[in-house]
Amino acid sequence: MRSKAILIPSLLIILLLSCESKPYRQGEALYQHYCANCHMDDGSGLAGNIPPLARSDYLAQNQEHIACIIRYGQEGEITVNGRVYQNPMAGIPELTEFEITNIINFINQAWGNDNGYLPLSEVRKSLEDCK
Ligand code: HEC
Repeated sequence: MRSKAILIPSLLIILLLSCESKPYRQGEALYQHYCANCHMDDGSGLAGNIPPLARSDYLAQNQEHIACIIRYGQEGEITVNGRVYQNPMAGIPELTEFEITNIINFINQAWGNDNGYLPLSEVRKSLEDCK
């Protein structure tokens, strides 16, 4: 009886934790497929050409705009961590809003980033605004 009282809550915690980390795993796989060839596996970018995502102040301060960049691309001058970049990034139109949300939540917490959690509803709103 006693062991059951411990087992059930621990199982619930494990279940909760595995649900919690799942979106990041899909986000990570998508990141590796769609983004890592430019922004690198460790989010460091490519010196002078491609801005970093790891500890990027731009990423931290423009959360409402990141979904638009992923779907529609980004061009023109952009300053990331005090450095100016000016190379166009093509949009990736085939990613669904779910996939975009998972990618953002992966990069928001990867490589020492701590940019909180962006819900699907926010991503959906951003995507409507950037059309
Ligand atoms: C072909 C190379 C390439 C790919 C692939 C690419 N990016 Fe980018 N990304 C860039 C470049 C170049 C810029 C800077 C654009 C500019 O200068 O205006 C950028 C800018 C950004 C920025 C804003 C600046 C920053 O560093 O915080 C974010 C966020 C970003 N990319 C995320 C992504 C994500 C997520 C993916 C995958 C879904 C992705 N990128 C795929 C090249 C790429």
